Amino acid sequence: MISLNINGRGYAVQAPDDMPLLWVLRDLLNLKGTKFGCGIAQCGACTVHVDGRPVRSCMLPAANVGSREVTTIEGIAQKESGRRIQEAWLELEVVQCGYCQSGQIMSAAALIERNPCPDDAEIDAAMAGNICRCATYVRIRAAIKSASRT
Ligand code: FES
Ligand code: FES
Repeated sequence: MISLNINGRGYAVQAPDDMPLLWVLRDLLNLKGTKFGCGIAQCGACTVHVDGRPVRSCMLPAANVGSREVTTIEGIAQKESGRRIQEAWLELEVVQCGYCQSGQIMSAAALIERNPCPDDAEIDAAMAGNICRCATYVRIRAAIKSASRT
């Protein structure tokens, strides 16, 4: 049995020790906002926060999370930074197909949480691991700037 704290709520799941957190979220807990992209830590689609830091949930065994707090896209609006990012995303209509966007939002929210007013280079560095096949990068950067000015 693995105990997890996700979006402020406790869960107990029956899962193999090597099952990645992403599988637990999507397949066992029905939290499907976090996406599977590459499965090998290359695309960022599966990004969640663990104790406020962005991590690739496709490569993190759920059993290794321990008592640390997991935040997913379903819970990111509970944080001020996450709410601001989501509002900016809507305002600037960042999303195209949407597949990469929950991961993008999680990385962006973590960025403005630790750096409330990032410059272009800091945004590019923080978002470099999140790939978007629709190439929404210009609007992502604009939305982060909008959220950081709010
Ligand atoms: S699915 Fe995890 S980084 Fe691509
Ligand atoms: S919005 Fe389509 S992959 Fe990013």
